[in-house]
Amino acid sequence: MPAVLPVDEDSIARAASLLREGKLVAFPTETVYGLGGDATNGEAVAAIYAAKGRPSFNPLIVHVAEARALDALVEWNETARTLASAFWPGPLTLIMPRKKDAPVSLLTSAGLDTLAVRVPSHPAAQKLLRAVDRPLAAPSANASGKLSPTAPAHVAESLGDKVDLILAGGRSAIGVESTVVDTTTLEPVILRPGGVTREQIEMALGCKVELHGGAASDAPASPGMLASHYAPHLPVRLNAETLADNEAFLAFGPDAFIKGGAARLNLSPQGDLYEAAANLFAMLREMDRPDYAIIAVAPIPETGLGLAINDRLRRAAAERT
Ligand code: TXA
Ligand code: MG
Repeated sequence: MPAVLPVDEDSIARAASLLREGKLVAFPTETVYGLGGDATNGEAVAAIYAAKGRPSFNPLIVHVAEARALDALVEWNETARTLASAFWPGPLTLIMPRKKDAPVSLLTSAGLDTLAVRVPSHPAAQKLLRAVDRPLAAPSANASGKLSPTAPAHVAESLGDKVDLILAGGRSAIGVESTVVDTTTLEPVILRPGGVTREQIEMALGCKVELHGGAASDAPASPGMLASHYAPHLPVRLNAETLADNEAFLAFGPDAFIKGGAARLNLSPQGDLYEAAANLFAMLREMDRPDYAIIAVAPIPETGLGLAINDRLRRAAAERT
């Protein structure tokens, strides 16, 4: 079982140093407990997906202590400014355009050009974010498909020692996740209903706001399916074991015995799925150039994070509509 520590100066300092080492810490927020990892460290983010046992890469929310900390990460527009000043710190997540040079792992946003960002109000979350002084990626601290945790015991039950430390800060006051609002579209859209109501959002913006799909909490959650989701321009060929001259090769594990190709990158020469996940979106982008005809990808094992990697690759390889 993981260490469970009440929130005080020592446990916050311990949590911050674990996070800076790339470890995972569950922490209380006003909505639900989050499973936090350093959003700038691709392998820490890969460890979050692995701990949750998510079969696909669902983009994660980036948490910061104050809105100003987002200037380096995302582009502000008027809708985002209005909503941020009305509801932060608090149970609201904004989807905003990601800055090109944002120091956040592409895995955090599952390769999207947007970033989900939130400033939580829970005092322990605030203290932790200030102590780490880095943006934290944090999905709800439960195994994939299970209920979101609103008490430290739920986190321990659901994740066990897949988390390195649980900061115990009592019951979550709100108990449902944050409201997710996409501010990148001409008219803002609520992607997930949550702690801030639609009425409150409409009041702040002075206009009606649509609810995406109108469905249950994780429904939009196939942002993997949204048109905006990053897919390479080049066709993708899976399970490549030989190469044509015009193919760019995305290898995994030892690859010297596979000859040819126009270029190659290796997701993980040692065959480490965490490293591969951390490199996946950045390397796909790097190979997505008109100089090549196809991105050929080596077989990736269907175990652990390999499920999520293969899910993403199959989508990238699927027939384009
Ligand atoms: O209250 C909360 O939001 C909690 C606490 C820990 O902050 N976190 C949380 O994270 O609920 P998670 O990963 O369970 O849910 C994140 C939601 C998902 O529905 C995901 O699809 C959506 O946010 N999301 C994240 N990034 C997105 C993006 N760039 N575009 C669209 N949707 C995004
Ligand atoms: Mg969740």
